Amino acid sequence: MRIVFASSEIYPFAKTGGLADVSGSLSKKLAQHGLKVFGFMPLYKTVDINKHDIKKIDINITVNLYGKSYIFEVYKKVDNATYFFLKNDELFGRDYLYGTPEGDYLDNDVRFGAFCWAVMEFIMSENLNPDIIHANDWQTALLPVLTYYKYNLHNVKTVLTIHNLAYQGIFDKFAIERLNLGWDLFHMEALEFYDKVNLLKGGIVFSSAVTTVSPTYAKEITTPEYGYGLDGVLKKYIVKLYGILNGIDYEVWNPETDKDIYVNYCVFNYERKVLNKKRLLRDIGIEGEDKPLIVFIGRFAKQKGIDLIVESIEELSRKEANFMILGSGDKGYNDFFESVKGKYKNIFVEVGYDEPLSRKMYAGGDFLVMPSLFEPCGLNQMIAMRYGTLVIARATGGLKDTVKDISEENGYGILFENFSKEDFLKAIDRSLTLYYDNPNLFKKLQKEVMTLDFSLDNQASKYIKLYETLKYMGV
Ligand code: ADP
Ligand code: GLC
Repeated sequence: MRIVFASSEIYPFAKTGGLADVSGSLSKKLAQHGLKVFGFMPLYKTVDINKHDIKKIDINITVNLYGKSYIFEVYKKVDNATYFFLKNDELFGRDYLYGTPEGDYLDNDVRFGAFCWAVMEFIMSENLNPDIIHANDWQTALLPVLTYYKYNLHNVKTVLTIHNLAYQGIFDKFAIERLNLGWDLFHMEALEFYDKVNLLKGGIVFSSAVTTVSPTYAKEITTPEYGYGLDGVLKKYIVKLYGILNGIDYEVWNPETDKDIYVNYCVFNYERKVLNKKRLLRDIGIEGEDKPLIVFIGRFAKQKGIDLIVESIEELSRKEANFMILGSGDKGYNDFFESVKGKYKNIFVEVGYDEPLSRKMYAGGDFLVMPSLFEPCGLNQMIAMRYGTLVIARATGGLKDTVKDISEENGYGILFENFSKEDFLKAIDRSLTLYYDNPNLFKKLQKEVMTLDFSLDNQASKYIKLYETLKYMGV
């Protein structure tokens, strides 16, 4: 089977979050399963083509939009999958992928719309003949629309994966003209959304199947609480909506081989894990290796439950625990965390994006906290468990599907239900009780979570099954 897999970020080439991890690992795994996978991504200025051995090839793609021509040069890398990078510096030669900390780039509709048109032109001119075109999130959600409505490729099936419904690609209605879509697509059953253009909605309507990244989130997004205005549309198309749990790449996330951590370890010598905590605490200048180290890693966005941490910071500073927070994102949160740097002797903060440091934290932490307001899937919790770090999380979305509370039979984590400071702090207290009062159980659980299976194989085989169903059943 031939798959075009398009994403605005693919690890290791460009990453702002889990979308990149999943795009990189799933495309690779599908190829390892014998599918012919063509990955597509914009070539951002930030992609290091030398490091990744990405080479220019002799193809140019021209896209004409609204009286203007965009020429894309094509770069290529052959790995398990074959990746094509489309280069247009006017659109993608910028410092960030989507926008500066002050806000999104104003021409994101044209940037990603032109990219989608370019992918389609490439497919046609190079005779890629895909069986499936797999799009991810709003940035590539135009692909199912173009495939079905503009190129009339009704034999090519399309899959749209929603990694996060909170981001939909909503633009003023003249995006219809800027993207050459035609006003016949501007109605309630297509791209129109409260008199604006909604690219994700277009993808949902025109794709052969919609997937999202955990079974619980698939249910949640059909409700007003989590649906961000699209719950009605998702409900309407519920027969083609699937929740497929993400996995993580065990070659990328492996405490036995991870080059960025202080001391490698695995389940058979997991006692060595604690050496990572000692070295990390020493490096960041925090005392108290006997106390539990609770880490947070993630985007500073409302989604991640940062408000609970902000509101509880004084209480956290009085706990018999050390905390380490790594993240960046919304300016208000960045400013807050900058302002508490060095203020509390048990709380270390790093505002920024730092993969090597994140790895040291996964390895050195006793607990990872994820108090998310909503969480489509979440990868941090799976990575943490792979590194023997127990998870404290709010019971929502993919967190609910991957973490089982210790009060349940065979439970191995700590969950809390309500998005409130009180419940959050109670969950922190439960982790301290486990750590101090039941060290044997704590150690047993550390080992146990390392052996849970969050590998990609389940995820990849479910996608293959879905592709096959679409292809052979003529959906
Ligand atoms: P999301 O995609 O919503 O941000 P996920 O849990 O799916 O959340 O994935 C987050 C990914 O990004 C993980 O691989 C995590 O380690 C990484 N990450 C997030 N913030 C940072 C940061 N500040 N520094 C390093 N890695 C980060
Ligand atoms: C999104 C979600 C996150 C998910 C990731 C990969 O960024 O916020 O929960 O794990 O996509 O699917």
